[in-house]
Amino acid sequence: MNYNFDEIIDRRGTDAIKLDRCQALFGTEDVYPLWVADMDFRTPDFILDAIRARLEHPILGYSNVPKDFFPLTIQWIKDHHQWEVSRGWVGFLNGIVPGIAFAVQTYTNEGDEVIIQPPVYYPFIHVVNNNNRKLIYNQLIERDGRYEMDFENLESQITSRTKLLILSNPHNPGGRVWDKATLSRLAEICAKHNIVVVADEIHADMTLTGHRHTPFATVSESAANISVTFMAPSKTFNIPGLVSSVYIIPNPDLREKFVTFLQKSDLTGGNILSYAATVAAYEHGEQWRQQMLEYVEGNIAFLKNFLANHLPQIKPMMPEASFLVWLDCAELGFKDTDELHLFFAQKGKQGLNKGTTFGPGGEQHLRINVACSRIILEKALMSLANAVKEL
Ligand SMILES: Cc1ncc(COP(=O)(O)O)c(C=O)c1O
Repeated sequence: MNYNFDEIIDRRGTDAIKLDRCQALFGTEDVYPLWVADMDFRTPDFILDAIRARLEHPILGYSNVPKDFFPLTIQWIKDHHQWEVSRGWVGFLNGIVPGIAFAVQTYTNEGDEVIIQPPVYYPFIHVVNNNNRKLIYNQLIERDGRYEMDFENLESQITSRTKLLILSNPHNPGGRVWDKATLSRLAEICAKHNIVVVADEIHADMTLTGHRHTPFATVSESAANISVTFMAPSKTFNIPGLVSSVYIIPNPDLREKFVTFLQKSDLTGGNILSYAATVAAYEHGEQWRQQMLEYVEGNIAFLKNFLANHLPQIKPMMPEASFLVWLDCAELGFKDTDELHLFFAQKGKQGLNKGTTFGPGGEQHLRINVACSRIILEKALMSLANAVKEL
């Protein structure tokens, strides 16, 4: 089966955030919306068919998680990440960002410190702030075109009130697939100080050629003991609007606290359509996943060549996973990131994420989502190149 990722699908009229918030964010609707991290590729037919099949039944009543759901999830994780997850460690989770918020509420108290490593996926910042916890930044260091963790700074910031670290593994927006040595060192430091690590592994199934995802919990026994891992098919199979994810918590004490939190608000279940989609994704999705990644890699290569040839002032951080590319635009010489962002939108027709929303280290950066048809990417970049010529 060959899937077609060149297809251009009009998303207008579907309440797509990517389109409907352009005016508010960019001051114009006339942009290529290459920001929100969902794909412009068709959600694969084996998933749409599974949903349609469920809708054939005329009653959409209260339903259990299908019996295949957890065995398929566990098998998928074993096959793709060589992690043997016990059935008792895993449960349904209604979205990873909500899961991070639940973890913050479960394992910390108001005023406690939570570490994140910016520039990083911005909801990490909001979740901590919205729950009145103290945000501690351990800013990543850029070395040889990729991000590294700053362990010295990390250790120097930890106090008796530091209770949690939120890890993006692989990293969004830098696209870094953290290696075993890095994760082991992180685990060692966090275990020494009784810090729980929330490992957000939503991008795990999208490592690119030459890279392999390492689940944080697998690097050592102490990592397993302090870990709360979240995974999902939502990003990989373009079904984030359905909301389906899982938590995996090997440590019984941490698990009991998390499950108790979920139970207190009756948050343990999902909806029948996301169950059906997840089962179909893990049962039939491998070929689609591989072809989708091949197409994404083609787009990343296209972007890299285009920038080198036409916009050498923009330096892409080459991602090791996923479809997001972090662009260093400092050489364009804008006064600040707001001005840069506005120029890209209003002159270059680029609807991109502003680097500073990802926290410190995001200055003079933008994030582009290349999970779109190549022709759209090409048109968008041409439009940017024309605008930059006039600078
Ligand atoms: C690192 C990361 N975590 C979580 C999410 C969103 O997860 P969910 O839609 O399940 O809340 C995203 C989406 O872009 C992401 O990049």
